[in-house]
Amino acid sequence: MTVTRPPKLGERVVAPFGRRRCEVTRNLASGGYRIFSAIDPAGPLPAAGQFYMLAAEGAWGGDGGRPYLARAFSVADAAREQGGVRLDFLVQAVGPGTSRLAALEAGEGLWIHGPLGRPFSAPGDLADNAAGAILVGGGIGVAPLAIWRRQLLAAGIPARVLLGFRDEANSGGLELFDCSEIRLASDDGHTGHRGFVTDLLAVLLEGDDARSAAVYACGPPVMLEAVRGMCAERGVECELAMEAPMACGFGACFGCAIPVPGGGYMRLCVDGPVVRGDEIESALVAGSGH
Ligand SMILES: Cc1cc2nc3c(=O)[nH]c(=O)nc-3n(C[C@H](O)[C@H](O)[C@H](O)COP(=O)(O)OP(=O)(O)OC[C@H]3O[C@@H](n4cnc5c(N)ncnc54)[C@H](O)[C@@H]3O)c2cc1C
Ligand code: FES
Repeated sequence: MTVTRPPKLGERVVAPFGRRRCEVTRNLASGGYRIFSAIDPAGPLPAAGQFYMLAAEGAWGGDGGRPYLARAFSVADAAREQGGVRLDFLVQAVGPGTSRLAALEAGEGLWIHGPLGRPFSAPGDLADNAAGAILVGGGIGVAPLAIWRRQLLAAGIPARVLLGFRDEANSGGLELFDCSEIRLASDDGHTGHRGFVTDLLAVLLEGDDARSAAVYACGPPVMLEAVRGMCAERGVECELAMEAPMACGFGACFGCAIPVPGGGYMRLCVDGPVVRGDEIESALVAGSGH
């Protein structure tokens, strides 16, 4: 059954069966990335941290048949509008699928399947004493933090936002946050603090109120691993939105399996992509990140 009300914080929204055709309504440049939107006529409002499998209706499978499979994308924002649910995605063109999606034009068709996967948990469900949130984003990983910040704000939960980018070409998505209280870092110093976003996190975690916050991070594997280690050292709960190569997105192919402590594996598409820091051996997953 499709959920028509907004999901509660941390509630996993179940995807309707099969894929649906949406119409693209806009595609804008955002720094070195693109933000595109589509109207989902029959889907539910997604939870922050969930993702969709996307494929353009036309010109999917170009030279050499690539891309063949749909590609995974975090939902960056969503709102009920006339005609359905508007879904916003932030895309960085790194290969055939992302390049095709980055070139979508208003009026084109987009096949979607979702929302899929496990969303972020409410701070209070992660740690009894967590009254607020610290969001840490790196590069294209800022996407799911935008919708998470908006959902936290709507629930009256304070969220501090730290975003880091490699350089100007590998940055964007700030419009999705619609707020000026973001602390920025860049490796090359073109904006904000010159250095890693984890430098900014270290300062916040030294504060007295660090233990009253839960940390949520999405970004390259080395950044996620650093966040995981810093939080574990200081006894602060964290959740990481991870990536792995995903062929199906719903648990059938095992292409996204990653090792878990004590042996065995989890499938990131159904047991994640959001995982607690202590649920994984390492955020440095083979084949993930770009
Ligand atoms: C849950 C999830 C959410 C994601 N959200 C976003 C998002 O919001 N915006 C965005 O731009 N990208 C996102 N990605 C990454 C995106 O799915 C990949 O960049 C895309 O599948 C690459 O397809 P391609 O055909 O363009 O390139 P390919 O030719 O398939 O790959 C190009 C490069 O990207 C790497 N790559 C391929 N697939 C993945 C993958 N799944 N994860 C990491 N690296 C990959 C390859 O190793 C290669 O270096 C997400 C991935 C996952 C799993
Ligand atoms: S992507 Fe197929 S099992 Fe996870």
